[in-house]
Amino acid sequence: MVDRYAVIGNPVEHSKSPLIHAAFARQTGQDIEYTRILAPLDGFQQTVTDFFRRGGRGANVTVPFKFEAYDLAVANASERAHDAGAANTLMFEGGKIICDNTDGVGLVTDIQNNLGIAIQNKRVLLIGAGGAAGGVLHPIFEQQPAMLVIANRTLDKAMSMKKKVEEKGEFRFVSVAANEFDELDGQSFDIVINATSAGLTDSILPIPRGIFAPGALAYDMMYGRETPFMAFARQQGAEVVDGLGMLVEQAAVSFSLWRGVQPETKPVIAQLRHL
Ligand code: ATR
Repeated sequence: MVDRYAVIGNPVEHSKSPLIHAAFARQTGQDIEYTRILAPLDGFQQTVTDFFRRGGRGANVTVPFKFEAYDLAVANASERAHDAGAANTLMFEGGKIICDNTDGVGLVTDIQNNLGIAIQNKRVLLIGAGGAAGGVLHPIFEQQPAMLVIANRTLDKAMSMKKKVEEKGEFRFVSVAANEFDELDGQSFDIVINATSAGLTDSILPIPRGIFAPGALAYDMMYGRETPFMAFARQQGAEVVDGLGMLVEQAAVSFSLWRGVQPETKPVIAQLRHL
């Protein structure tokens, strides 16, 4: 019987994950089936349990269930999932549900390997303090940026993210600040990452002009649309990139966890760009 995988979310119909995993499977000669599963907002746990009971081997988890996915498998969570407090990858092994979070490594790989921009010693601004930001915070820190500023509309949430990082002793060498947007005035950054969901509603982020250092990268974790953040960054002369590469890279890590083979990501990113 073919090994079954799925992406579970709500909504989930626009997910590109089935296309990506089908491409990885063709490329590596793996015989898998990968589908989309719409879970009711109050029925994530039941959906996962049913899927694994019916022979599912693994799943990706998307909005809004990443926190629930972590809670469900917290006893068998990777360190990356613990750091994020959220999971995007589930595996069913030996009767247990195991979880991991590959979002952060996906972002870091896209920035460093695909775009060729080292994070080490760079001034990084992370905008947002929700689930998406939490998933990438620790992996960015591990690359030893010169500075990481977390900015969020709601200061309390940025402060609690800052606290989580500071509790990790190994990150002592990195300076952290949690700012409201107007406090960013006068500062500039080499890498600015938009991890908010503001782009979904075409909302403009009130970030000041001048935050992009010459040659800065403006990375929006959203893909498939030009967000106001991207338009603003373009006007300011930054190099603007969407989150498609991150999407493919996080999928590749999930795929290799499940199948034990590492797929090539560049041809799949190129293929999706031309759809
Ligand atoms: P996700 O999983 O996509 O991160 P989330 O956990 O709901 O979703 O977090 C959404 C993030 O986008 C938050 O940082 C939110 O800011 P608040 O903490 O102040 O709510 C941010 N966000 C959403 N819409 C925004 C907007 N119009 N302007 C600024 N920030 C916004």
